[in-house]
Amino acid sequence: MPAAGAAEFVPETREVAALAAAVQACRGCSLYQNASRAVFGSGPTRAEMMLVGEQPGDREDLAGEPFVGPAGRLLDRALHEAGLPRAPVYLTNAVKHFKFVRSESGQRRIHKTPSRLEVVACRPWLFAELEAVKPSVVVLLGATAAKSLLGNEFRITAHRGEVLQLPSDTVPETVREAKVTVTVHPSAVLRGPAEAREESFRSLVADLRFAGGLRPA
Ligand code: URA
Ligand code: SF4
Repeated sequence: MPAAGAAEFVPETREVAALAAAVQACRGCSLYQNASRAVFGSGPTRAEMMLVGEQPGDREDLAGEPFVGPAGRLLDRALHEAGLPRAPVYLTNAVKHFKFVRSESGQRRIHKTPSRLEVVACRPWLFAELEAVKPSVVVLLGATAAKSLLGNEFRITAHRGEVLQLPSDTVPETVREAKVTVTVHPSAVLRGPAEAREESFRSLVADLRFAGGLRPA
């Protein structure tokens, strides 16, 4: 059966708490079947800055909070170095359920990149969050988040350090005023070769600082 998408599960309210409660009942794609729970965004219900990752990881799936595992710790450090405290930032993901495969022993759950179908299926939740939180700056962390909002052909490396606008063909008009920037995903810094890690961390910090500078004075 083709995934119908999340739209029919998203309530009309634009209150974050009500959206976060409703997402637990979403059956917009098949990812709810194996995950422990949906992980919605977290942070102030109105925030100047929203950061969008890919999907919850193993730790986030267990905790029910985004960015609490290793990638989250690296992101915290990067935000700190960029002069941006985490507390006023709203953190979320392009996809709300954890997609994984089991290791051969069955002991570990290994992250699997969500498909285009799943990313598009989940997008109505991200639109609803954007409408609720009304950030003036949105930072898309990594390819999944960038492609979710900017189109499947979008390539991050060609657009770092730019101020982008969300496209009018897919994104509701109500959220298109946000200034959008893209950078690497913190997991990419962790997974990259050791000798490149410091430089890739520095470039993440630089991109976050750039995005922070776009907030209204
Ligand atoms: N990676 C993400 O993209 N999001 C999380 O919440 C955790 C890890
Ligand atoms: Fe719904 Fe998104 Fe979960 Fe799929 S991943 S079931 S669309 S909340």
